[in-house]
Amino acid sequence: MQLEDRLGLLQTAEKIASREAKVVVIGLGYVGLPLCIEFANAGFNVTGIDVNSTKVESLNRGQSYILDVKEADLKSCFEKKKFKVVENYNPLKEADVIIICVPTPLNKTREPDVSCIIAVGEQIARYIRKGQVVILESTTYPGTTEEVILPMLKQKGGKVGEDFCLAFSPERIDPGNRHFSTATIPKIVGGVTPQCTEFAKKVYESIVEKVVLVSSSRVAEMAKLLENTFRAVNIALVNELALMCAKLNINVWEVIDAAATKPFGFMPFYPGPGLGGHCLPIDPIYLAWKAKLHGFESRFIELASQVNAYMPNYVVERVMAGLNEKGKPMKGSKLLVLGVTYKKNVNDTRESPALDIIEMLKERGAIVKFNDPYIASLDSIQWTALTPATLRAQDAVLLLTDHGDFDYDAIIRDAALIIDTRNIFKNHHSSNNVIRI
Ligand SMILES: NC(=O)c1ccc[n+]([C@@H]2O[C@H](COP(=O)([O-])OP(=O)(O)OC[C@H]3O[C@@H](n4cnc5c(N)ncnc54)[C@H](O)[C@@H]3O)[C@@H](O)[C@H]2O)c1
Repeated sequence: MQLEDRLGLLQTAEKIASREAKVVVIGLGYVGLPLCIEFANAGFNVTGIDVNSTKVESLNRGQSYILDVKEADLKSCFEKKKFKVVENYNPLKEADVIIICVPTPLNKTREPDVSCIIAVGEQIARYIRKGQVVILESTTYPGTTEEVILPMLKQKGGKVGEDFCLAFSPERIDPGNRHFSTATIPKIVGGVTPQCTEFAKKVYESIVEKVVLVSSSRVAEMAKLLENTFRAVNIALVNELALMCAKLNINVWEVIDAAATKPFGFMPFYPGPGLGGHCLPIDPIYLAWKAKLHGFESRFIELASQVNAYMPNYVVERVMAGLNEKGKPMKGSKLLVLGVTYKKNVNDTRESPALDIIEMLKERGAIVKFNDPYIASLDSIQWTALTPATLRAQDAVLLLTDHGDFDYDAIIRDAALIIDTRNIFKNHHSSNNVIRI
């Protein structure tokens, strides 16, 4: 099959410089949607593609489902005709720059599931032509760009780095973080060839303050996995320290705060009810899986996963111990879970440890309700308003996510027993009514 010969990479470079390049972002979630807005605000014509018709319809009504993307920004991009959203892949034909932001979950056997990347790769391969720059942003195991996407794009005979470019650039966005956004987080870029790196650099230079070049797509893929494995392992370390400190009757939070006064060589991480979100519990497993294919056992990753996965059980144990102190069995106790998202001030419940904890409490016969200012409903349990009467009606309240919107004064005043997994009630830990993890 012949590669359609239109404008080449040099013309694409000119179009990027003049902002005339057509940018297509595939996957309009936490990563893809903010990226679309950045490119549209920088003056590019952006098309977002998503297979989820509810999301496409919502965006086309001007409604954002991502808290970090304000509807005013969305509407302004639509009004300036800089942004459109569709459910089909036709825009790939005219695209100069294609950025892939689809999910990379685990399958049922907890192995990497790159089927979304493959599905999108097949579509890009159908339309690939000279002059296109393709960039993968989804977090994945080292080698995905070269081993999974490149063979598809080469099917029509085009040469990478000469006819089209392919690069990996990890997304490092931190949803809910008010200090750093897509534009202010340095962007790592690694191309399949040096030419690909240069082209991906040109793309991101238009929207981010700093682009960091690395020698290959594999290095870029690995750098992202190092960042997230670093967090997962350090969180596991403090989680284990929390279990140890409980045995030794030492306040782990005070220990961490004291250690954090060291001005060098220490970075504080905090214990919690377990790891959640689409990144930290999953990304290290991508790396461990790939290492295993090469006969390498990644012991830190395995151990960290085990320690972090145990934390929901530990929270349930603490609830049982607290109820026991009050002479109450778990079975039939009324429990209120505060916060079900995986971290504070976001509306994302993916992999949230709260969901596991709720299931375990229910299995043990507790009557569980929840409140979360960011989540209106869950399939498994009933939402309830946070009123003095509701708080007083509970045998225990579990603070699992420390959202800024909770009225902590009311909670400490009205709850009979609080299981505090976030050290919010640190000034009340000596009271009989607050149990920390
Ligand atoms: N959420 C984060 O904080 C974050 C941070 C850094 C990196 N990442 C990585 O970025 C990637 C995307 O994560 P996310 O949180 O934005 O996921 P998401 O689920 O919020 O969004 C992904 C979108 O892709 C769409 N999609 C799935 N298959 C598709 C297909 N074949 N064609 C078109 N659209 C398709 C889905 O409908 C969804 O809207 C993942 O690899 C993730 O690990 C996420």
